Amino acid sequence: MDTRITTPFGAHSTAAEVIDGVDLTGRRAIVTGGASGIGIETARALAGAGAAVTLAVRDLGAGERVASDIAETTGSKQVEVAPLDLADQASVRAFTADWEGPLDILVNNAGVMASPLMRTPEGWEMQFATNHLGHFGLATGLHRALASAGGARIVSVSSTGHLFSPVVFDDIQFRERDYDPWLAYGQSKTANILFAVEAAKRWADDGITANALHPGAIHTNLQRHVSEEELQRLRAAGWAAGFVYKTPEQGAATSVLLAASPLVAEAKGRYFEDCNEAAPNEPGTRRGVAPYALDQEAAGRLWLVSEQTIGV
Ligand SMILES: NC(=O)c1ccc[n+]([C@@H]2O[C@H](COP(=O)([O-])OP(=O)(O)OC[C@H]3O[C@@H](n4cnc5c(N)ncnc54)[C@H](OP(=O)(O)O)[C@@H]3O)[C@@H](O)[C@H]2O)c1
Repeated sequence: MDTRITTPFGAHSTAAEVIDGVDLTGRRAIVTGGASGIGIETARALAGAGAAVTLAVRDLGAGERVASDIAETTGSKQVEVAPLDLADQASVRAFTADWEGPLDILVNNAGVMASPLMRTPEGWEMQFATNHLGHFGLATGLHRALASAGGARIVSVSSTGHLFSPVVFDDIQFRERDYDPWLAYGQSKTANILFAVEAAKRWADDGITANALHPGAIHTNLQRHVSEEELQRLRAAGWAAGFVYKTPEQGAATSVLLAASPLVAEAKGRYFEDCNEAAPNEPGTRRGVAPYALDQEAAGRLWLVSEQTIGV
């Protein structure tokens, strides 16, 4: 039985605190969705520690504004912006084809939550396509770059929302069952954890680690698809009960810890929340990790399904 990995940090720790004293000079990092929400603070902390950071974003204007702000606040001259639309595998392939040289840190942070039913031109459900398939194509496309870094880390930003649903292999794309925005979000966020489990296993010999996390509850643009009525409904169902909102700087802390801290260098295929490895979820609670999200067989199966789906 593995021992749970703990650190002196917790729910209130900030990204700056967890990376204090870590020198990332000479390292290169990519943060998807780095132009909004916790992605900004993740990128800022990595840049502040000396890493060359690429913000992989679909809104280049927003990316440039954030890059300037990060450069100004950290003094870094190594913050770049590159186009990436995770819902479009051609865009993902273009991004990975353009990448040259080693990659030390990949933070799969971008995401969409509880959107109404939307499909990509291939017919893939949009949350699964963006949150999982986009990041799957990105990581596999960058595998060589990650392997050549020696000790690269992949960080998969999941959510406590993974407790809403396992990956429903019989109908991932909601072709047979009624669409539910929360089940789709939950499925995609479980997929983010299963991806880390399988990547950690497959790529261990390349010195690559992969871990997943829940960042906490943070007011960001993520809630754009959630109406006030829907929030009321969730609160009434007990879902938002006990949520203590974090600042974006606190929300970025667990990502940054997994991306850069020596305290978690041994972590592989694990799920963290509040800067510590999470305990198994106790049914009826909103914390911890669901057993189905760490299931080795499901992780292997999802990898194969994902390869078949995007055609790699
Ligand atoms: N905030 C929370 O309470 C919370 C809780 C649990 C988990 N999370 C997770 O944390 C991560 C970051 O969320 P956040 O709260 O910082 O939300 P956010 O402010 O909405 O940031 C999400 C980012 O993802 C980008 N994105 C969405 N679709 C994309 C696509 N097709 N291609 C490329 N980028 C795309 C967005 O770009 P645009 O700006 O162009 O749309 C945005 O930059 C997400 O994975 C989310 O599931 C957040």
